[in-house]
Formats: sequence, structure tokens, C-alpha cells
Amino acid sequence: MADESASRFVDLDRYPITDLDAPAAQSLIEHCCQDLESQAFSVLEDFLTADAVSQFWTESMALAGDVVRRGAVRSTYFDTPDQEDPSWPIGHPRRQFFRTNWGVVADDLIPDDHGLRQFYEWDRLTDFFSQVLQVKPLYRHADRFQALNINVLNPGDEQAWHFDGMDFVVLLYLTTPDGGGELECASLVRTDDDPCYDKVAAAFDGSYPQLHRRVPKAGTLTIMRGHHSVHRVTPVEGVTPRLTAVLSYDRVPEKREGDAINIQIYGERIRTKIASGFNR
Ligand SMILES: [Fe+2]
Repeated sequence: MADESASRFVDLDRYPITDLDAPAAQSLIEHCCQDLESQAFSVLEDFLTADAVSQFWTESMALAGDVVRRGAVRSTYFDTPDQEDPSWPIGHPRRQFFRTNWGVVADDLIPDDHGLRQFYEWDRLTDFFSQVLQVKPLYRHADRFQALNINVLNPGDEQAWHFDGMDFVVLLYLTTPDGGGELECASLVRTDDDPCYDKVAAAFDGSYPQLHRRVPKAGTLTIMRGHHSVHRVTPVEGVTPRLTAVLSYDRVPEKREGDAINIQIYGERIRTKIASGFNR
């Protein structure tokens, strides 16, 4: 029999995801689908119970020593300033550079008895996202470094304007920062065929009409399609770090990322683990 104990983490009165065929669940799924269609993200406030927020916070803070810090200055298109292309006009989005500073705890450092691990590996949750994203079947990412991560933005940290490489991601806020740390998203600024640089520029200067700002709150779940929507996280203020669990999924089973990218993201310790046959 499937392990349903992770259902205790979810406010099931508000988000009845244990029976996805029931009318209340179908109504919720429809609501999320409409949000994704119209603005590229769907926000489910207080998805976690207060007890789950408390437990996940405590267990995540215990991993503070495992955080790898990362920082870069780059354009939205991943160019560094020394790669600036003068064939674009001055001020063009291809010639604007932004700072990113953050920390991350890799999947393999999150223990099996961490509530987040049980939450992520709960099949009912994956089934829910499968229906919301209309990706069937949907698999948890198989990469043992990338599948489940905890992103840590300390006060002063921020994430630069970017498009996501993957076409969907699930974010679970574990803390409520004292200020800042807002997710700012310019919904659907580009398509597969058109980079729409004028709209990207409008997002940067704040004039894009569909520019959404969401204040992070512990326990909130955000489902996002960020491939066509440029977004950033504004600088975190105060003293409370902004902790976010990043839950990754894929359309194909047993998907793993390349060794080089994992070493780049998570540091040199990955090289030793890979050499021992981990993540094969
Ligand atoms: Fe993103």
C-alpha cells in the first residue's frame, strides 16, 4: 500500500489533493491551470500546515552548514560582462547585466527523514502536479543532486532577471523574509519563435503590463512555467533568510544532468562523489 503519511503536511481542507477525481480537487486543478495559462504561475497560499512549516524550517536550518554559495553578474541570456556584444544598441536587454547571489543545498545532502524528502516523494503530490501541468506521465527528476534542492537567499542576496531552462518548476517557501525577496514575474513576455526584446526591456523598467510581484510567505506553494516569462527575486531585507525548496520534475523517467553542470552548481565535492559511481 502506498505511503500516504505525507498528506499530514498539507492543509487538505483547502487543498484536497488526496482524491484527485473528486469535484473539489478537479475545481482546484482547473483554477491552477487557468492561472498557468494566463500568467505562467499559480500560487497556493498556506499549502502547508503550520506544523509542517515549523518542522521544515527546523530541519532545513539544520542543513545550514551544507549550503554552497554562488554568485555571478550576467545578462538575462547568461552572457557575462566581458561577453557584451556591441552590435546590440546600448541599453538593449542583451547588454544589461545583473547581480545574482544565492546559496543552495543539493539533493544528496537532504536526509531521508527530512519532512521535505517525504513530501517530495509522495506520489499523490506528483499526480497533482501532473494534472495541473497537463504533463502525463510526470516523473520526479532522477538526478541525485538536482531533484530536490533548498535555495537560501541571505539578507542582501537576490536573483537576477532570467528565464528558466526547464519548462516547469515547483517552489515551496519555507520562510517569510522580513522584507524584500519578492518574486517579480513578467508573464509570457516571449514565445518560442520571438524573443520580444521590447517586452523584456519593459519588464526591466517596470512598465510591462503583466508584471506581477509576489511576497514570499512560509507554506506557500508556487507552480511555475518560467521558460517564456522573465522573472527575478528582489533583494532580501531584514535578518531572516529566504528559504525555498525547489521540487524538480521531468517528462522522462531516470533523467540525470551532466557531471560538469552539477560540479559547476554544487562545487568540487561532487567530483569525488561522481567518481565513486554516485548518480549513475
Ligand atoms: Fe527561475
